[in-house]
Amino acid sequence: MSEKVRFKDKVVVVTGASSGIGQATALEFAREGAKTVLVSRSADKLARVADEIRNFNPNTLVIPTDVSDAHQVRQMVKTVLEEFGRIDVLFNNAGSSFVGRVEDSNFLENTREMMEVDYFGTIMVTKEILPIMKEQGEGNIMNMSSVVGRKAFPHFGGYSSAMHAISAFTDSLRQELRSSGIKVSIIHPALTRTPLLDHVRPEDMPPPFRSMTPITVDSVAKAVVNGVYYNQARIVLPFQPKVLMLADAISPHIGDMIVRLLANKIFARLLGTYRGKVYHEISY
Ligand SMILES: NC(=O)c1ccc[n+]([C@@H]2O[C@H](COP(=O)([O-])OP(=O)(O)OC[C@H]3O[C@@H](n4cnc5c(N)ncnc54)[C@H](OP(=O)(O)O)[C@@H]3O)[C@@H](O)[C@H]2O)c1
Repeated sequence: MSEKVRFKDKVVVVTGASSGIGQATALEFAREGAKTVLVSRSADKLARVADEIRNFNPNTLVIPTDVSDAHQVRQMVKTVLEEFGRIDVLFNNAGSSFVGRVEDSNFLENTREMMEVDYFGTIMVTKEILPIMKEQGEGNIMNMSSVVGRKAFPHFGGYSSAMHAISAFTDSLRQELRSSGIKVSIIHPALTRTPLLDHVRPEDMPPPFRSMTPITVDSVAKAVVNGVYYNQARIVLPFQPKVLMLADAISPHIGDMIVRLLANKIFARLLGTYRGKVYHEISY
């Protein structure tokens, strides 16, 4: 186990732990001594992540769960309590995504389907775990959003809406829980190399993504673990999107202009968001 064990014996629930950012974050918490609970739909993939964790930390539990199913969420939380007796950290990370224009015939349907998992899933898991943390008088909730949860990109309206909704939900929850001992955070990572957008053809990606070098899952995982430890209310990763957010707060026209410029490799190189390779040219 790592030298740095800031989460020794803390019970950490990670949704979407079978792949990408969730998998990397579960591993990172486990390296820091946590008892991890791995949640997603695919039992076999979760079992592989658990095997990796058990190489250095025996305390991990696999609970296959669809976060959009209220009954399964309730059962999952019941099992965690039976096995570990408490829940210290919840990382609401499970999610899916689709690329498409608002005018597309399937936009409404796709958005609804995605909202059920990304947004309502986050709410459902939170509401099930909140009373436990209230009873404990402490806990940390970290919700996953995205840079597009602060500034939407074209062809990404459905996903950006879900990420904005999670952002607003988190903002409200943090204020409601201010004196409860429960800390609430959110992370807004930029494009990250995971299987999330593998089904999207490079030419169909939202324009800024066609000239963007994705960040790594490990950098996001470390930011999540540090964010929980230091109780950071809002994490934006890396720093460049903060420029976009600030500009957009001054005027959405300036924000739109930066989004258009981000699709230009020379501008993206200058800003540091393009470092020689794009999403489909990097493996994970
Ligand atoms: N990749 C990016 O560029 C990026 C940037 C910012 C934010 N994010 C967000 O980061 C989160 C993780 O995405 P990722 O990039 O790591 O993608 P990923 O590798 O595809 O991981 C998505 C995870 O969510 C799980 N999941 C999907 N639907 C679920 C459901 N109904 N119930 C339970 N688990 C479900 C998947 O597992 P199963 O299939 O086993 O259920 C998988 O473990 C997502 O919320 C995404 O919006 C991603």
